[in-house]
Amino acid sequence: MKHFLDIHKTEADSLRDIIGQAHEMKNARGGKPRGAPDDEQPLSGRMVALIFEKPSTRTRASFDVGVRQMGGATMLLTGAEMQLGHGETIADTARVMSRYVDMIMIRTFEESVLLEMAEHSDVPVINGLTNRSHPCQIMADMMTYEEHRGSIAGRKVVWSGDGNNVCASYLHAASQFGFDLTFTGPSQLDPDENVVGAARRSGANIVIERDPEKAVRGADLIVTDTWLSMHDSMSTREGRHNLLRPYQVNKHLMSFANPDALFMHCLPAHRGEEATSDIMDGPHSVIFDEAENRLHCQKAIMRWCMGL
Ligand code: CP
Repeated sequence: MKHFLDIHKTEADSLRDIIGQAHEMKNARGGKPRGAPDDEQPLSGRMVALIFEKPSTRTRASFDVGVRQMGGATMLLTGAEMQLGHGETIADTARVMSRYVDMIMIRTFEESVLLEMAEHSDVPVINGLTNRSHPCQIMADMMTYEEHRGSIAGRKVVWSGDGNNVCASYLHAASQFGFDLTFTGPSQLDPDENVVGAARRSGANIVIERDPEKAVRGADLIVTDTWLSMHDSMSTREGRHNLLRPYQVNKHLMSFANPDALFMHCLPAHRGEEATSDIMDGPHSVIFDEAENRLHCQKAIMRWCMGL
């Protein structure tokens, strides 16, 4: 029984195996992400709980479809409908859920909720995003890069904008996948210094560059995300936008990257804010492949967790 809690908490070999299996499962579907169930039904007879304390389109839909394609069933639970945080401890919830379901995917606010759930659960727990990280997204991003450009090892990845939870997972991934990571953004929105320090100690080449044009020179991949995450207060919106405007990914900024650089965004996007539509819909963009690959990667993550 294995949990999938974070990129840096999972062995690099296991991450590779998961992505390899995701490629295999995607190929086995012959380029058709929707439609008929998989030939192999490893989750036949299994129930997976999908717990959401925050909104979601991609994570919710892709886990639900992925479980069903593999022959399993899902139970969708939202924070508002559960006793979670309304007096019942996370530990007790984990113990109870372990009596009903074979696996738990949870999207929540505090990382401590995820960790307590995993500590007390008798079944695998998967991190579907917390305020601190989003490992399933980065697995899909790594798979997507490989599909388009081959190995990401030794490549230059630039994160432009807010040093948020998705950025943290990129920092976790840098040494695991062997890429160089440059963060460019305002100092007020730097990624957590502990995460940067840990990434450097694990051997990753992490650069902080305030000038976005300098940062993206020679980039093989540029990544950004919304300027206001789900856990950020709306009252900070204007201030954050003012700080982040120079880091918008647009044609001008993209022109400093390598000619064959890719553009990624985990979505949802606020077009015209963190990235312009001509970039999102342009030749560098692979954003919808990223979204599709959430499905394939998460199916492989679930199989890895269950040893199936
Ligand atoms: N990228 C992502 O996690 O999307 P959702 O918030 O829609 O699940």
